[in-house]
Amino acid sequence: MVTVEELTTFCKKKGLVFANSEIYGGIAGFFDYGPIGVELKNNIKKEWWTYHVQQRQDVVGIDGSIIAHPTVWIASGHVNGFSDVLVSCTKCNERFRADVLIEDLLNISASSLTLSDINEFIRTKNLKCTKCKSPLGEASAFNLMFQTFVGPKQDKDAIAYLRPETAQLMFANFKLVAETARCKLPFGIAQIGKAFRNEISPRNFLFRMREFEQMEIEYFIHPDKHDECPFIKHVLEYELLILSSESQIKGTSATKMTIAAALENNIIQSPWHAYWLATEHNWFVKLGCNPEHIRVRQHVTEEKAHYAKDTWDLEYEFPFGWKELQGIADRSDYDLQQHIKNSGKDLSLYDEETKKKIVPHVVAEPSTGVDRAFLLFLCEAYLYSKERDYVVLRLHPALAPVKAAIFPLLSNKEELTKLAHKIYEDIREDFPAQYDTSGSVGRRYARADEIGIPYCITIDFDSITNKDVTIRDRDTASQIRVPIKQLQQRLCQLLKQEIAFEKAGVLVKKENNTQHNSDDPTSNTQN
Ligand code: GAP
Repeated sequence: MVTVEELTTFCKKKGLVFANSEIYGGIAGFFDYGPIGVELKNNIKKEWWTYHVQQRQDVVGIDGSIIAHPTVWIASGHVNGFSDVLVSCTKCNERFRADVLIEDLLNISASSLTLSDINEFIRTKNLKCTKCKSPLGEASAFNLMFQTFVGPKQDKDAIAYLRPETAQLMFANFKLVAETARCKLPFGIAQIGKAFRNEISPRNFLFRMREFEQMEIEYFIHPDKHDECPFIKHVLEYELLILSSESQIKGTSATKMTIAAALENNIIQSPWHAYWLATEHNWFVKLGCNPEHIRVRQHVTEEKAHYAKDTWDLEYEFPFGWKELQGIADRSDYDLQQHIKNSGKDLSLYDEETKKKIVPHVVAEPSTGVDRAFLLFLCEAYLYSKERDYVVLRLHPALAPVKAAIFPLLSNKEELTKLAHKIYEDIREDFPAQYDTSGSVGRRYARADEIGIPYCITIDFDSITNKDVTIRDRDTASQIRVPIKQLQQRLCQLLKQEIAFEKAGVLVKKENNTQHNSDDPTSNTQN
């Protein structure tokens, strides 16, 4: 499996992700996306929005601001309760996130430990500073919100916070959204946007950052209709690798089972929760993630957030172990009630059936980090090919930053470059493409494979006489010939995976291949 260090180096080299302000030595927990990375990240967000908002009738979107009225964060519980446990070295003053330190030193899960449990652990296990081996001090709660001031006065009345999650804007805007979009329960409000957490120990590249992005949905249902999920029939046969809280207590491993079996055996209690777990899992799988690499894990009682009735995480097997990719909490009416109490406003809906006002419940809050999804798709796609002697980024075509590369076989033959450039201009009207004339075709294939371009189109001398071109498939290195007239249509079909590669044109036979031996990417021809 690829390591985080290899991925970090690869991402820098290929223009995917850079350490923020690297020329000044960087700043921990902040990263910048480069020219290829920003395209991949935008494609992830676009696919998420299409699947979760545009293709559904029951979900609408918003785009809230990063800074909100500070009472939003008092109402949500973040001002008082959004903290991790911090412990410092008594000698060198190095600071640690206590649960992570315990996990690292004792190799146990510590996410459910309370502040007093942590202090007890540090004392009884005699844990020391990992830097200078001196004793650790008393652990304390550390609030993760970044503070700022709004306006020219920098006093306590001007304090505001950079949002630590996008979620609260869906609650604060709930009534306005429901009324203006004429939403009928059940319905969801979705948002993609930046979130900020002053993490004590940012680590593992894009996994734990201080500035990151979230893609979240608050899904609201009628409070008396927890068991009525109209969509459950569509996912009953869907299989998940499930790790219930009971299995964790007993120390047994995750089991593969259908949603139907999980509901029947009361492992997942709510059909809504089951539906959203399957729906979210399916989004990653549809975009190329191996289902064996994702499991769903239920939070044990002590681990649940203050607002959550039940929470399941989608976990991915990252190079550093199984870790949270997405949380799906059942938040009940906690947030809406808190905002009703703190704002004094009526955020209820009128129920036509009972003719009463109701406060909807959030039965599921699928919340994914964009950057963690980015890391997942990178891990899934990254393959060092021994045969080709370079990395091939086997991204799903929908995520690929550039969809096609166009090469004239020789860059000094005008009849080839003219035709190749015309083809490039035409293709670029439909999707992002790259025109590359530099080095041998083998080198150009390698450059394209490394940034995940699914198809390379070569214009050779036959293209002039026969009016066709070759398309090469990134993953198999097979080639087909396709008439220029059909090229755009075939590429569209290939990118949408509507047609098998071998059926999209005439497969180039081995003897034809030998004719262009230097085009063979496995030959690793140098300039
Ligand atoms: N609104 C619920 C919420 O924010 P969370 O479990 O704290 O729940 C949801 O965060 C998701 O946001 C996580 O599953 C993860 O994908 C992403 N996330 C959280 N903290 C992060 C961080 N420091 N860096 C990168 N992604 C993070």
